[in-house]
Amino acid sequence: MTAKHNALNAERIHESIHIFSEENLSTRYSGNINCFDTIDSTNTWLLENGKNGDFCLSETQTAGRGRRDNRWVSPDSGNIYLSYCCYFDHSVPHRSLLGLVAGIATAEALEDIGLTGHGLKWPNDIFWKSKKLGGILIQTADNYEKFVIGIGLNVSLPQDSLNQITQAATSLEEALKNQTVNRETVVIKLMEKLLSHSEMFAQLPFQAFTQSWNRWDILNGQRVSFQHQNQKIEGKVDGIDKHGRIAILLESGIEYFTAADIKLKKSNQASQTISKQSTTNRL
Ligand code: BTN
Repeated sequence: MTAKHNALNAERIHESIHIFSEENLSTRYSGNINCFDTIDSTNTWLLENGKNGDFCLSETQTAGRGRRDNRWVSPDSGNIYLSYCCYFDHSVPHRSLLGLVAGIATAEALEDIGLTGHGLKWPNDIFWKSKKLGGILIQTADNYEKFVIGIGLNVSLPQDSLNQITQAATSLEEALKNQTVNRETVVIKLMEKLLSHSEMFAQLPFQAFTQSWNRWDILNGQRVSFQHQNQKIEGKVDGIDKHGRIAILLESGIEYFTAADIKLKKSNQASQTISKQSTTNRL
């Protein structure tokens, strides 16, 4: 298929970073930006080739990966498939929570390009008005010191792609009311936020991010249900704690769960949504 959008260009992005940066990243940024037309997965490429601070982008992915071993269908339709490689050694005890901070970075980047009405569904889905706009996948290597943050963001979803997605999905074009979206602007904002947030992440305890998380959290105060140890549990979300666990108010009191333990759904949504989610390849 011939792309109808301009391909992302590494040199242009590199040159432009300082124009969009609030923190003069052009002088601080020393990594590489690798742009591909097609690749198996931008995450896999960085896991194999990435150095600290490197980015990888592709117009399309042939083996895009989603969370929970799902495939991330990645058409060449002008979406963003971006990965960032960073290292955190054992002096950063909260590094398993990088995905939450990557979510905050993404939400802030989208705010900076003028989007409103978006938020984060714990642990790291990006939503706009109850529809999934994007997702984040964290992968690790090198003795749990090398981290790759992968962000998939729907910018333009043609009908044939939408037809493949059984969960409610949306795109930046829909969310921004068909304004033309300059992908490079979005990519540069994302990079800027990922660079600054990962730097802060290395220096600060996770607690420093909980307030920002709460600002974007779309589940806070909502009734949710989930499976835990073969039991269906229902409760009300009461934010996250300093360990990044979600707090759920149950009849028996507050309990805390990690992202590996549970997969949440809103209680008032049809259960069909979840069964679709678990069978679909994407979103
Ligand atoms: C999710 O399941 O919600 C997370 C999806 C993450 C997809 C992105 S696209 C860029 C990067 N490369 C991949 O193979 N996956 C991530």
